[in-house]
Amino acid sequence: MSTPITQIRMSDYPGSRAPREIWQTTHDPLPPLKEGQVAARIDWVSIDPGMTAWITDKRGYMPPVRPGGVMRAFGVGEVTESRSENLAVGDWITGFLGVRSHGVFNDKDVRPIAVDMAAPELYLSGLGMTGYTAYFGMMDIGRPEAGETVVVSAAAGAVGSIAAQLAKNAGARVIGIAGGAEKCRYLTETLKLDAAIDYKSEDVAARLDALAPDYIDLYYDNVGGETLDLALERMKYRGRIVVCGAVSQYENMGNPQGPANYLQIVMQSVKMQGFTMRDYMHRVPEALVALAAGLEDGSLICRQHILDGIDSFPDGLELLLAGGNQGKLLIRINH
Ligand SMILES: NC(=O)c1ccc[n+]([C@@H]2O[C@H](COP(=O)([O-])OP(=O)(O)OC[C@H]3O[C@@H](n4cnc5c(N)ncnc54)[C@H](OP(=O)(O)O)[C@@H]3O)[C@@H](O)[C@H]2O)c1
Repeated sequence: MSTPITQIRMSDYPGSRAPREIWQTTHDPLPPLKEGQVAARIDWVSIDPGMTAWITDKRGYMPPVRPGGVMRAFGVGEVTESRSENLAVGDWITGFLGVRSHGVFNDKDVRPIAVDMAAPELYLSGLGMTGYTAYFGMMDIGRPEAGETVVVSAAAGAVGSIAAQLAKNAGARVIGIAGGAEKCRYLTETLKLDAAIDYKSEDVAARLDALAPDYIDLYYDNVGGETLDLALERMKYRGRIVVCGAVSQYENMGNPQGPANYLQIVMQSVKMQGFTMRDYMHRVPEALVALAAGLEDGSLICRQHILDGIDSFPDGLELLLAGGNQGKLLIRINH
């Protein structure tokens, strides 16, 4: 008899209904393996703000999860059965493994990871898409230079914290924006950023004026909305804005608030560029080397927030969108 597996499915697109109602746990048999496939036990699942874009039928950067389908998620797991020439039992893999305890995958859809080099879960945080996003967004698009003033929003979060440290390591003066005193202390005391702004209790405009009186060279935007507007008003001539995400707008995906004062892009010759990791998949090895070196020598710190059990997924997604996570949000399963 095949192993029963636990999976979280999306019953319908959220629409106006509370997202919690759309999640259903099912127990299903593991499908038999075909040629070129592996079965894997999944130990870690990543919860990402981008999931909100995967559960809407609006045009996105990849096809949406279909109603009734298993929720898409990055994961890491160990191969338990193989009919692949490229992956053997005992190998570890990552990719879109889904919110599930076990699964069967085409070998071409997953990537092997070296768990002798780093703990498996790190391939979902500092050494995974989170780290790569921070790396390419900051180092390839943002290109911070010594002495520049760089502002990062959601700076205590998974991507933001790595992006901010990369800018700091490049010699820039880095101001992080985050929600709450604990996160702001983390930014200045642990990550050694030059300043932190608590957008939940401080006047962000006044603090930016005080901390960046000569304006902002580079704004790494994770939140969009009002904070993007405040940064736009304060960009230096020929400043750069990296649009990594807009988490403040993800509960309103159908009608996100755009920048009101976008004419500043014209008046200050600002370059504003968005991206997703699909632009950079061919350069992952470069990011992996740089991030692994930073984590190894301590110049990069990566904090993880761990939930236990696959059933914590609905709460976890809500926690993430409410800012309750302290670092990369992960679910530990199967151990
Ligand atoms: N372009 C890409 O390829 C790519 C890939 C991965 C992630 N991203 C984007 O990167 C950003 C960060 O993602 P992450 O995975 O690192 O998550 P994260 O920052 O670890 O978690 C999300 C954080 O967003 C903040 N937040 C939530 N609601 C907010 C609001 N209304 N206004 C301001 N901040 C809010 C919260 O921090 P506070 O407590 O500070 O509010 C929360 O902790 C997201 O926009 C995500 O979509 C982009």
